[in-house]
Amino acid sequence: MIIQGQDWRPEQARKSLRRLLPELEEAFARELRPVAFDWHRFKNRLHREWERLFSHLHDLYGWQYDFHYTLERILRSLIRSWLDRPEELRRLDEAREAEPDWFQSQEMVGIVLYVDLFSDHLAKLKDHIPYFKKLGLTYLHLMPLFASPHGENDGGYAVSDYRSINPDLGTMAELEELTSVLRHEGISVVLDFVFNHTSDEHVWALNAKAGDPDFMGYYFTFPDRELPDEFQRYLRDIFPEARKGSFTWSEELQRWVWTTFNSYQWDLNYTNAEVFRAMAEEMLFLANRGVEVLRLDAVAFLWKRLGTNCENQPEAHTIIRAFNAMARIVAPALLFKSEAIVHPSEVVRYVHPEECQLSYNPLLMALLWEALATRDVRLLTHSMQGRYRLPAGCAWVNYLRCHDDIGWTFDDEDARSVGIDPASHRRFLNDFYTGRFPGSYARGKSFQENHSTGDARISGTLSSLAGLEDALERQDDELIERAVRRITLLMGIQASIGGLPLLYAGDEYGMINDYTYLHDPRKMSDSRWVHRCRRRWEAKEDLADVDTIEWRFFRETVKLFNLRKQLPALYDGGMEVIETGNTHLFGYLRSHADQRLLVVANFAETSQRMSFDLLRPWGAGGHAIDHLNGESVSLEQDLSIEHHRAVWLEL
Ligand code: GLC
Ligand code: GLC
Repeated sequence: MIIQGQDWRPEQARKSLRRLLPELEEAFARELRPVAFDWHRFKNRLHREWERLFSHLHDLYGWQYDFHYTLERILRSLIRSWLDRPEELRRLDEAREAEPDWFQSQEMVGIVLYVDLFSDHLAKLKDHIPYFKKLGLTYLHLMPLFASPHGENDGGYAVSDYRSINPDLGTMAELEELTSVLRHEGISVVLDFVFNHTSDEHVWALNAKAGDPDFMGYYFTFPDRELPDEFQRYLRDIFPEARKGSFTWSEELQRWVWTTFNSYQWDLNYTNAEVFRAMAEEMLFLANRGVEVLRLDAVAFLWKRLGTNCENQPEAHTIIRAFNAMARIVAPALLFKSEAIVHPSEVVRYVHPEECQLSYNPLLMALLWEALATRDVRLLTHSMQGRYRLPAGCAWVNYLRCHDDIGWTFDDEDARSVGIDPASHRRFLNDFYTGRFPGSYARGKSFQENHSTGDARISGTLSSLAGLEDALERQDDELIERAVRRITLLMGIQASIGGLPLLYAGDEYGMINDYTYLHDPRKMSDSRWVHRCRRRWEAKEDLADVDTIEWRFFRETVKLFNLRKQLPALYDGGMEVIETGNTHLFGYLRSHADQRLLVVANFAETSQRMSFDLLRPWGAGGHAIDHLNGESVSLEQDLSIEHHRAVWLEL
């Protein structure tokens, strides 16, 4: 708020801290004494970040009569969480503060996996560290492993207790040990922070069901359909195959509850400052277990406003920024990764050093598949030209597949500007990737087809979508070769375009679809399980010296990541899309530390040329080394690239 051109908040922030801190220092005096030196460090950070935190909290809760109480509670949480932070992690905080860009390094390579599907449980995960090292991994995202309902639980995204691990997977002590062991091996552990909703079995929900008014205030509940109907007019159905509408009737409550996702996932009410504080404590609890990156789940849905689609509201950003300020104070080593699978213009709004330093890149993901299907890179090129840049100190997480579906989230205007009709193009892509389009090699499943809007998304593993399943079934070597090339083409871009490549476990050995979910009543209605497959360790841990397709993939993946690590040009995310003069060739320039790398990738089924004239502006002359193929390439003539191949030329 600005009065007479002056923001009064910095002064009020300082004043509130002057009032609150001495009292709390006294209250915690006994615990603070032995850590006096570190306490000064904490206080420096507190003074540095407090104004920012205060302003965000004021935006969210300043109008409430008990705002001062809110501030006090939050400050208390900060101190408590910091006191509980293990020594080893405080040292990590210092190291990361000294090197805040550590995650921009070309050495970074990530993987995401389900603990149960990969190694049965947490304790056994450690045995696979040599496998991770062989792949060169530095970032390990474990899919949700918290206590959750026994029946359906949305793959763990319905959390019943953020402080206990699903007993089938292990214990919190095991998680803590694992994060520490992995850190010493140079691998950062990433977990989900599922903070838009809890499961309806979380103790807060149980208390609400028991009629406790304080806990009813943790959720959005309504006695009748009046408000739900008002809201519903503008909302989209996220899981339309599961049910219609975003509200669920609760028998226990005798009220309607806001449930954006499944009916057992209750949306949290962030207009309630207690909810903010309670979730902030859960966040810091996870940070103190040694988790270095939190994947902020479903960020778009955090704040509801009547008359809007209740996605990407300004307050959603404010909430994350307030969490970010708290993390900077207590656990500065912690990073946030945004999961906003929304319109590309909205995706980037979550990415900022003071919000989420990392973000999924759903646009690149979707458009790589788009270009693979069309063999035409115009939409990819156009979109990446305008939409790749991020604020300094931030990075994309580039993925080809994840545990969710693929949605065609490109911008309609971007499509029109390259002569594509967006609606029919999305239909084509859905037809193509479900194999309905004549000549398609893809074996995807449709996900959440919405018969009223015609929308649908795609499930399926990288390999099945790229044609490997089809080719293997036909036992056709030529088709197998094509599928393998498509997969390596995409992986090569993922590893070089700028940002952190994130592998979906199994893709490193060409895992194809698993249809057994169709026989599991808890999974059969959710086609995403087709690409959530159990690891087949009988395929041999290191796949060494075996002449199988799995081994070929594994070798290629290792080679690619090793190469990435050796090329300083691939540091951070600076990337310039270049004109290749050929609608099948996608090209970009990467440069850093005196190294310049020109990447050109051919999406066509035939070999393609980039003319010498277009290469010249990039300072090309004579010969260049193609790092990807280890060859020297003449630049005094047109550049010729085989089908589904790429070059990484050092200029
Ligand atoms: C995220 C998860 C997805 C889950 C949803 C609800 O989008 O990636 O798997 O269904 O949130 O938590
Ligand atoms: C929607 C949501 C996204 C979620 C997905 C689950 O696309 O926007 O957050 O991951 O549904 O499939």
